Amino acid sequence: MTDTQATAAVPSKAPSADREPLLRVTDLKRHFPITKGVLRRQHGAVRAVDGISFSVLPGETLGVVGESGCGKSTMGRLVTRLDEPTGGKVEFEGTDITHLSTGRMRPLRKDIQIIFQDPYSSLNPRHTVGTIVGAPFRLQKVATEGGVKKAVQELLELCGLSPEHYNRYPHEFSGGQRQRIGIARALALRPKMIVADEPVSALDVSIQAQVVNLLDDLQKELGLTYLIIAHDLSVVRHVSDRVAVMYLGKIVEIADRDSLYAAPTHPYTVALMSAVPVPDPRRKERRERILLTGDVPSPINPPSGCRFRTRCWKAQDICASQEPPLVELRPGHQSACHFPENTGA
Ligand SMILES: Nc1ncnc2c1ncn2[C@@H]1O[C@H](COP(=O)(O)OP(=O)(O)OP(=O)(O)O)[C@@H](O)[C@H]1O
Ligand code: SF4
Ligand SMILES: [Mg+2]
Repeated sequence: MTDTQATAAVPSKAPSADREPLLRVTDLKRHFPITKGVLRRQHGAVRAVDGISFSVLPGETLGVVGESGCGKSTMGRLVTRLDEPTGGKVEFEGTDITHLSTGRMRPLRKDIQIIFQDPYSSLNPRHTVGTIVGAPFRLQKVATEGGVKKAVQELLELCGLSPEHYNRYPHEFSGGQRQRIGIARALALRPKMIVADEPVSALDVSIQAQVVNLLDDLQKELGLTYLIIAHDLSVVRHVSDRVAVMYLGKIVEIADRDSLYAAPTHPYTVALMSAVPVPDPRRKERRERILLTGDVPSPINPPSGCRFRTRCWKAQDICASQEPPLVELRPGHQSACHFPENTGA
């Protein structure tokens, strides 16, 4: 058993103070400037990610959920350093990578990989599967025992594909298989961490579970650490150890999976949860369905105080004047609301 596998075998519920996080994000911000006129003078900003903090432990899966436009992909691009933060800090294995140059980022590139939502556009249609999955070896000039072809074929098998697919082209595959090709490419350099940005939302519901299960199996086998982004809470439920809920560039609730699903405290989480079908219909305490009305406000000019207040059925005056801080309501369960639900009080 390797060191990473040993770490992965540690139950995820172990107190976080015992282990150093693999990824630590502190007050992360990304404001996209809005410019006007020929001089491109800045007259505002899209506050896509607006001060978020969290960490991910080795071998753990953190699920990140929220409606469209709340900043999930931007956050994913920031932590993989495909984009540069406007503020805050990103640390990987204790190293500050927030503003590392491309050159100094290169050795770390192999440790953090990203998988994208769309398995159609993320694979070059003119390249064979062998070229696509083997590209990371060539780019990083990594020598492989037995050659690149053998290494690629092993990766294909690991991801549930046939080694004979080596010479085929992406269009010959179904959506689920293409996503497996994307996963194989991401695994080529044996990364420590994978950021998966809506890895299954472009796939048929019947295929989604297979790809999620593959990610789960790979994590166990390779001791991977995941940050999995999804639109809705049902996709990440099965695989996540902890879940963060984002709304308009902020984390509004973050908790151990079981604590979050059993007793969500932020009204936004409660609303998202009410849209998820109850797994066992015989259960008596069927959740009341809460419909979220209205659109997510613009991240250019977010509401004062609590950003969710324009859609919250519990909003009071204080919600407009004071931003609720993210506080621990139960061990390992943080929420940002003046009037949280399910607190037992
Ligand atoms: N390059 C950019 N320039 C300007 N605004 C951007 C840019 N990228 C994203 N945005 C804006 O930032 C906000 C957050 O976008 P982001 O793609 O991170 O959201 P998301 O949560 O991933 O949404 P979805 O669920 O639709 O994928 C949106 O308002 C988006 O329009
Ligand atoms: S702080 Fe107020 S507006 Fe925001 S979620 Fe809580 S009750 Fe609703
Ligand atoms: Mg996105």
